[in-house]
Amino acid sequence: MYSLVQNFLLNRDPEWSHDFTIGFLKRSQGNVLNKLYSQSVPAKPVECLGMSFKNPIGLAAGLDKNGECIDAFAAMGFGFVEVGTVTPKPQAGNDKPRLFRLSEHQAIINRMGFNNKGVDYLVEQVKQSNYKGILGINIGKNKNTPEENALEDYLICLDKVYAYASYITVNISSPNTPGLRNLQYGEALDKLLAGLKARQLSLELTYGKYVPILIKIAPDLSKEEVISIASSLIKAKMDGVIATNTTLDRAPVEGHEHAAEAGGLSGAVLTHKSLELTKILADALEGKLPIIGVGGISNAEDAKARLDAGATLLQVYSSFIYQGPPLIKELVNA
Ligand SMILES: Cc1cc2nc3c(=O)[nH]c(=O)nc-3n(C[C@H](O)[C@H](O)[C@H](O)COP(=O)(O)O)c2cc1C
Repeated sequence: MYSLVQNFLLNRDPEWSHDFTIGFLKRSQGNVLNKLYSQSVPAKPVECLGMSFKNPIGLAAGLDKNGECIDAFAAMGFGFVEVGTVTPKPQAGNDKPRLFRLSEHQAIINRMGFNNKGVDYLVEQVKQSNYKGILGINIGKNKNTPEENALEDYLICLDKVYAYASYITVNISSPNTPGLRNLQYGEALDKLLAGLKARQLSLELTYGKYVPILIKIAPDLSKEEVISIASSLIKAKMDGVIATNTTLDRAPVEGHEHAAEAGGLSGAVLTHKSLELTKILADALEGKLPIIGVGGISNAEDAKARLDAGATLLQVYSSFIYQGPPLIKELVNA
């Protein structure tokens, strides 16, 4: 079934296919049409972040940026769903074309630039969904917010999503928002983390529930940088790390017609880089914080390798585009 749909979708403009699919999933969730993609996946419970995940395979951020299809993705069998990145105000993102398939490499290059309908819209979508499982909400800053005011944007989003999220991801690793990745280093990182922690604790008192905060990092970091980030996250009492976002490295796709497109590269060509970073990160964290592994996980072997490297949970994006819902079952079974 998916191979028919796949043929149709993978032969059209990538962003058209994305919008078409999101539109269809949005309309079909909760009615009989959801039978087209619903599947039962064996239970493989994992305890992490103080919660019980029904299986360790989650949907990575960026596919359902506005939280419009949460019930549909849940019906496909994901153990958890992460929506966003969402910003305080709606924004259009970068000019099109901004999404490219490199099918020969099972890879994608994107420079979407946090196109999203804003945090208020996302919260409405979450309220309307029937999903009772684990929901991550991924937050970012608006493009026109100066780097030095980034914390304010994250706090606006944190305040608005806190009551509705099972965990919150702070995205400081998208390559498509100028300056965002600078927040991963030194004083800028420590200042950001301190501000997030203080607000998290006050929101805990307000809502009577503790919502874990995870930081999502890039794969393009040196060993020293990963070690330094790990130490900052432990010191600031963050709850976990998501590793990794997309890469700026083009070596694995050299010579491809889209290789020179600006943006982040993801998919099978990211597996090695993301895996190696996860090993360094796991060593540096010494088990003090859990890792959600993401980046090029495309088959059972990749999934096992990422868990062996120290990740507790996994997420997929690009391989899910190329392989569809059967991938979820394959990974959970493995
Ligand atoms: C088209 C596209 C859009 C993305 N948008 C976001 C986003 O908004 N926020 C985010 O944290 N990650 C975003 N990502 C990164 C993914 O969540 C994931 O970290 C990355 O693609 C590596 O995983 P993969 O190789 O399985 O795709 C995006 C990825 C793609 C391909």
